[in-house]
Amino acid sequence: MAVSLAVNGRKQTVEVDGDTPLLWVIRDEIGLKGTKFGCGMGLCGACTVHLNGQPVRSCSTPVEMAEGGDVTTIEGLSSNGGLHPLQQAWVEHGVPQCGYCQSGQIMSAAHLLQHNSAPSRDDIVAAVSGNLCRCGTYSRIVTAVESVVE
Ligand code: FES
Repeated sequence: MAVSLAVNGRKQTVEVDGDTPLLWVIRDEIGLKGTKFGCGMGLCGACTVHLNGQPVRSCSTPVEMAEGGDVTTIEGLSSNGGLHPLQQAWVEHGVPQCGYCQSGQIMSAAHLLQHNSAPSRDDIVAAVSGNLCRCGTYSRIVTAVESVVE
């Protein structure tokens, strides 16, 4: 089927099975590789993108659910062509270790900040609690988000 959606503000039409995971459309059809495959079962958060403003696990979101929708990936998070403040904070605080989960972490944190400009530490922890990091960068993630809020 033909599925039309906007990815990072750009209209796209892809010819795929409707139950194809949004993740594979983003990576393989559209060519944006910043969104990662971790578990493929909606458990780890590595594949987090925003669909119509809400964070979703793109590995377990059929692309047909995104028909006519707006998808934002890590590549489109910044609106000015530079780094988003969270990405800048990630650099300044040296958050990533292997880096694999970090785009999903940032997308979850970005959703929090879009809806709560002054989150508490508990709010931040809750917002990223569904994003697993096998390197254990959690404390640096929270510190980096806090630095954007301050
Ligand atoms: Fe989607 Fe793990 S790859 S939640």
